[in-house]
Amino acid sequence: MAASARTKGFPDKHHFIPPKPSQSRSPCPALNAMANHGYISREGTQVTFFNLIIALVEVYNISVPLAFLLAFVGFLTCGRLSFYSSADDSQNLPIPQSGPSTSASKLLLHALAKLRRVRSFRPHLWWTLDLASLSERGATKITHDASLVHPNTLPSTSPDRGLVSSFLGYAVDQVHPKRQLGLTLVDIAHLHASREASSPSPLSSFQEQIALGECGLAWLVLRPHFLNRKASEQEDVIPLCVLEQWFGEERLPEGWWDVGGSRPIRQVGLLEARRRAEDVGKIIHDASQWYVFLLGTPVFFFLLPASRSIFLLYL
Ligand code: HEM
Repeated sequence: MAASARTKGFPDKHHFIPPKPSQSRSPCPALNAMANHGYISREGTQVTFFNLIIALVEVYNISVPLAFLLAFVGFLTCGRLSFYSSADDSQNLPIPQSGPSTSASKLLLHALAKLRRVRSFRPHLWWTLDLASLSERGATKITHDASLVHPNTLPSTSPDRGLVSSFLGYAVDQVHPKRQLGLTLVDIAHLHASREASSPSPLSSFQEQIALGECGLAWLVLRPHFLNRKASEQEDVIPLCVLEQWFGEERLPEGWWDVGGSRPIRQVGLLEARRRAEDVGKIIHDASQWYVFLLGTPVFFFLLPASRSIFLLYL
């Protein structure tokens, strides 16, 4: 296991191994982390629809309907349909050379072998996904501008170092140094808004919904999980080290599977994911209303890493 980092608490075959350049990866930290730990193909190619659903449910403890929906959108926009038949494997079945030696019996054997190939041609429809295909851009694709740690306009399959460091910079609160280092749902919403404000063109409504969903879902699966705690703590902070490992290195955070570790204890369902995406949209909307009201003029705002306040600049 040369390039692997032995990650405490992971079974042997699921240790973190950073991807080789030849391996296919996506712009999604959730999928890349699963491939880097071998919960889906480490090659990142020919991931099948049901394997992806099973892995999403197992690793992130999301519900089957939510996993189904996420996988379905990914496969629909970037997946590949192909026919596979067991005959593909049997094309090279040897035609027996031994046995009867008369030419009639040889002919018969050849005919039988051919018949066996024809009979074994039972085509199956395969729906597979290469992770890198998710980085394709276009109106009907998922990948969009204003990502948290991926650059605008370019197909990207690994986090951008510069964007990761400014993203993590927001998690360091110099105004309230006693506060735990990390990001709340509100911080993530503001970060998304600031990335959108600096992107070359506004997101389509489909891509905006996707982006809000990603913010909400990331918070749901990474925030600290306590038993007997209400699900509505928007102020729960995703710790800095978890952000670094998941967004920056695309690995499952240390202690993921431990009791009291980062993996969600309660299953994350479709309605909850939708509610969080709406929360993110509302946080952004409320913030923008407030600034427009305050200044009575269109404004362009930045979130500065030094603090969690929003600094406004007139255009
Ligand atoms: C637990 C499940 C998942 C979580 C928590 C998750 C989370 C995220 C997050 C946070 C991002 C944004 C990265 C950034 O802004 O830099 C992202 C991006 C993306 N995800 Fe996922 N994801 C999940 C499942 C999936 C699935 C199943 C697919 C498709 C098969 C998918 C496809 C994508 C794509 C294409 C992007 C790139 C969008 C962009 O341009 O930012 N994700 N995901």
